[in-house]
Amino acid sequence: VNLALGSGPLKGKRILVTSGPTHEPIDPVRYIANRSSGTQGTAIAKALVKLGAEVIFVTGPADAPRPAGAQVIEVQTAREMLEVATSALPVDVAICAAAVADWHIVGAKDRKLKKSKDGTPALEFGENPDILKTLSAPGEARPSLVVGFAAETNDVIENATAKRARKGCDWIVANDVSPETGIMGGTENAVTLITDAGAEPWPRLSKADTATRLAERVKEALLT
Ligand code: CTP
Ligand code: CA
Repeated sequence: VNLALGSGPLKGKRILVTSGPTHEPIDPVRYIANRSSGTQGTAIAKALVKLGAEVIFVTGPADAPRPAGAQVIEVQTAREMLEVATSALPVDVAICAAAVADWHIVGAKDRKLKKSKDGTPALEFGENPDILKTLSAPGEARPSLVVGFAAETNDVIENATAKRARKGCDWIVANDVSPETGIMGGTENAVTLITDAGAEPWPRLSKADTATRLAERVKEALLT
């Protein structure tokens, strides 16, 4: 079968995936961001393409090579990511794997800040829009399945369960990113899937296998 021609069980399903970090400029040469390689989000997009879905992949500046077969839209900031994500609606499923910066810099400069003997610059932070929460809000355009991630360093299940309720999404993929797990920046992941049925721990798998398993669950949710 030629998957590029759109066969497979998810043929005809539109799926939005956000991935990578966002970069919030301080000036044209400096930014704030969360650490994110984009590996897990990219693997999810690939797994969904393989099942025949039409994948809209919205990514911030990430190292991971872009997923073949997806419609790739590159953005810099959280505000741009929200704009592109909401413009992609309607979709059947939204998966928010991006490590979105929680804040942007108010009054970012369009010229490079220079060092000065008068002291250091003060940065003012403004809160970024919450893309997952926006996509999860009830309404006609709400995807039938909205999935978020929760990277936590402690009380993983408890924090992720609270996050699921706060965001209004259907599932949360929780991962323990405390330094001793070695997961942050690595090639493996050990997640717990949190749904309304409770918390389901998955074994430690490669990020590719974690993605395949999530894509299978999405397929089951849409087709059964
Ligand atoms: N997310 C998002 N937009 C934001 C912040 C987060 O879409 N502005 C999404 C992420 O893609 C992820 C989920 O929300 O799927 C959880 O992100 P996280 O940073 O863990 O949640 P926050 O609500 O920002 O909480 P925290 O204070 O723990 O950072
Ligand atoms: Ca956050």
